[in-house]
Amino acid sequence: MTKIRTPVLAGNWKLHRGPSATREFFERFTALHLPRTDATVIVFPPAVSIPAAADAVRDRQDIAIGAQNVSAERSGAFTGEISAEMVRDAGGRYVLVGHSERRQLFGETDRDVANKTRAVLGAGLVPVVCVGETLQQRRSGEAERVVLEQLAAALGSFDSAEALVLAYEPVWAIGTGETATPADAQTMHAAIRSALGERGMAKVPVLYGGSVKPDNAAALLAEPDVDGLLVGGASVEPDSFARICAARA
Ligand code: PGA
Repeated sequence: MTKIRTPVLAGNWKLHRGPSATREFFERFTALHLPRTDATVIVFPPAVSIPAAADAVRDRQDIAIGAQNVSAERSGAFTGEISAEMVRDAGGRYVLVGHSERRQLFGETDRDVANKTRAVLGAGLVPVVCVGETLQQRRSGEAERVVLEQLAAALGSFDSAEALVLAYEPVWAIGTGETATPADAQTMHAAIRSALGERGMAKVPVLYGGSVKPDNAAALLAEPDVDGLLVGGASVEPDSFARICAARA
């Protein structure tokens, strides 16, 4: 099946790779993953490594850099925070918003997610808004309701004019080795797509994340509403991320 939307292969490094290790990664990764016009790669290193990453891919139109988190504020007395404008100045073009680790470990609410999404769009960057249910919510049959509520809360006031990416990441699949089956992912992606369509946002790419590995990437990408992948652990090493980026639907 030919997909209308260009696949997006995104790597979230979490708390891995400072600037030197980032340069090492891209030296190898750019040798393994040759320029392509039919896929976009986005790497989210730790914030201090964004300039090194942006510099390493300055000749690669097909690889973009992003931040894992930003403040909803532009400036002020907010010790330890960075703004979306600073990310752009450092060479980042995308920002993860509402990753489940930010929600669960750092107490981010749906309102924070909406405010951060607004700040990212305001800075001219593209938010990658993450949604996903817990195992308990899935077991009690609430998965779709929870995900669509998170989506509505994050996108409340935005319309089709905005450049956005969505990521469906079931919390129970993140870092656990448990992946949603391609069919389960497809079911949720179709529900998300239809909710986006109601807002005139049917073209927004919807990525799947949660224990994506070189071995399961192609099967997930083969689903009609899976437009790309958001990869955690398997994106930190250049060889495994290059294998995932080479996976075709
Ligand atoms: P994982 O992480 O691939 O290590 O499960 C995914 C994510 O947190 O984005």
